[in-house]
Amino acid sequence: MVETLISVENLARVYGRRSSVIKALDIGQLEIARGDFVAVTGPSGCGKTTLLNLLGALDRPSRGRILFKGKDITRLGGASLCRYRREKVGFIFQAYCLLPTLSALQNVLTPAYPQGNGRRVRGRARELLHRLGLAGAEKRRPGELSGGEQQRVAIARALLLDPELILADEPTGNLDSTTGAGIIALLKSLNEKGKTVLVASHDQRVADACGRVLRLEDGCLHPE
Ligand SMILES: Nc1ncnc2c1ncn2[C@@H]1O[C@H](COP(=O)(O)OP(=O)(O)OP(=O)(O)O)[C@@H](O)[C@H]1O
Ligand SMILES: [Mg+2]
Repeated sequence: MVETLISVENLARVYGRRSSVIKALDIGQLEIARGDFVAVTGPSGCGKTTLLNLLGALDRPSRGRILFKGKDITRLGGASLCRYRREKVGFIFQAYCLLPTLSALQNVLTPAYPQGNGRRVRGRARELLHRLGLAGAEKRRPGELSGGEQQRVAIARALLLDPELILADEPTGNLDSTTGAGIIALLKSLNEKGKTVLVASHDQRVADACGRVLRLEDGCLHPE
């Protein structure tokens, strides 16, 4: 049986105020099933990042609800908001967003702070870096890594606490095509192991790799 993981109802996000209002997103109904591998596509400025930020509870909508396993995450606050962001969602940011003064290993461990120094979690962080081809880079800082390497550190960080939902915003945007293909293959293998994955991208190859394509234009969803 198909299980709904996310259900979006009448969702809108407007930026700015009276004189300069930007309607970034306005979608009616959207359901994401557990185990879906979804591409969110569309031209620059169509609302991809806005949608991912709302699904990851990094931002609040101007209108509407987002149900995660039936629970409205747009109303979470305090500790339950932190828990949702930290434990349920692995967010891979468009601009990596690594902390420049921390090593690769320390960056991967940040979701586990302040308790992040246990041997088990450190072992998992090392194993993830290893799996992503970054063995030996543990001690290097982001400024000493290439774009593709930084992207993989950011992916390892997103996977540290084994979240069920992975939101990846343009994960191949700054990479050459071979490295980009490797990242897509990695996301696909995570999906095959049961993760629900949403990838925002204007790269057609990403859309081709996904099981489902959501097309946004001026903040609105095209019929599938
Ligand atoms: N914080 C903000 N304040 C005001 N306007 C914003 C803000 N963030 C985004 N916008 C506007 O909202 C619209 C949607 O932006 P969004 O970042 O979601 O697009 P995108 O599809 O991710 O684009 P790209 O492919 O370039 O990353 C754009 O018109 C953008 O200029
Ligand atoms: Mg974007």
